[in-house]
Amino acid sequence: MSEGAPARAAAARVLADVLRDGRSLRNALAPALPQLAEARDRALVEALVFAALRGRVRYEALLQRLLERPLPRKLSEVQALLLVGLAQLDALGITPYAAISASAEAARTLGHPRHVGLVNAVLRRFQRERDALLASIQAEPSLAHGHPAWLAAAVRAAYPDAADSVMRANLAEAPLWLRVNPLRTTREDYLRRLADDGIEAEAPDWLPQAVCLPQRVAPTRLPGWAEGWVSVQDGSAQAAVEALDARPGQCVLDACAAPGGKTAHLQERARGTLDLWAVERDPARAERLVETLARLGLSARIEIADAADPGWSDGQRFDRILLDAPCSATGIVRRQPDILVHRRAQDLPPLLGEQARLLDALWPMLRPGGRLVYATCSVLPDENARQIDAFLARHPDAHALPAPLPLGRPSGAGFQRLPGEDGMDGFFVALLGRSA
Ligand SMILES: C[S@@+](CC[C@H](N)C(=O)[O-])C[C@H]1O[C@@H](n2cnc3c(N)ncnc32)[C@H](O)[C@@H]1O
Repeated sequence: MSEGAPARAAAARVLADVLRDGRSLRNALAPALPQLAEARDRALVEALVFAALRGRVRYEALLQRLLERPLPRKLSEVQALLLVGLAQLDALGITPYAAISASAEAARTLGHPRHVGLVNAVLRRFQRERDALLASIQAEPSLAHGHPAWLAAAVRAAYPDAADSVMRANLAEAPLWLRVNPLRTTREDYLRRLADDGIEAEAPDWLPQAVCLPQRVAPTRLPGWAEGWVSVQDGSAQAAVEALDARPGQCVLDACAAPGGKTAHLQERARGTLDLWAVERDPARAERLVETLARLGLSARIEIADAADPGWSDGQRFDRILLDAPCSATGIVRRQPDILVHRRAQDLPPLLGEQARLLDALWPMLRPGGRLVYATCSVLPDENARQIDAFLARHPDAHALPAPLPLGRPSGAGFQRLPGEDGMDGFFVALLGRSA
């Protein structure tokens, strides 16, 4: 059997779970990776699935040209295997012989021995005709950008000058951003540890805990990972917490908290002194919040509740509120390429309603003179600038505050960073003050 076949077969199964069954990439990968004994194979499966999802719109169009007729649903794993094969030959630059033979053999591993020849023939033909085939895709405006039509149209409408670079960044690999835990070490020491291990790193001076690794490293292989020295968190997400500027000893609410990246950051930067409340509606996600805090040796009062239903708060008023709202996640496609598959235009109205409901319900919990940060990992103005402009119109005691650090371009009363800008995720942040 070809050495690489099990990893290709595993990648095809994960991809079929996402494309056929609508599972999230995270949930599809979680049970699949531990079945592979070698770390190298696990890394390969992740690379294969990410590349296939990033290229999916283009690769499905290529398969329409390469297959005589579409494959039936019962062959969805073979279809996924073909997408994985194209990703190897196109995006990943894997040696054609290795990519084609291992992928063809993987059809047998998947229980489709009669399709070994088909996978082999399709991938070989792509390799022979690749220049003409890729040119034909590039010539079709609806395919070249690799995004679903509704999202491409929304990005173009919002950012006529930057739409192409946004969509290019969405399909590119993201660097690995870390947040150093100042309760365990200093950023300077951690940078030295990375250098000792031969890991290249950068550190923007305006984000005090951030470290950016241009080349990805498995987090568990980072120095001090198990000891809670660092967490994985994009620079944009760190900037949102910095913008809230919670002071030591303040009473702070993290209203949509799981898996707890920002909860932990809030407590770290105040050196554990906050009276910090973390509210999360989803009990399974709340467990991840508990794990995050435990790994880092931090604490918060965790409430499993609908943050907009004030029953959980017992009349508490807060100096600072972070609302990291549920959103379309269209700013983090580069980390979660399954968003290109799962997110639909019709998902937006309920999200917009939920964001407005949370904003209106949380606002009275903010003390006069306090500050609320509204953040989303979205690039869609309806969830961002328009949402906040409408909120300000409804609440005369609310006013927008200026950005205390680089948060991206002004957008309505807030700030929008686009995917890839400063090497970071797409993120919207609005700072709202409550009149005293
Ligand atoms: C964008 S994620 C938060 C990420 C988190 N702040 C972090 O940095 O790790 C939004 C979270 O809000 C939760 N959520 C959505 N609606 C909620 C509500 N009404 N009340 C409380 N939590 C809610 C979701 O389950 C999800 O875990």
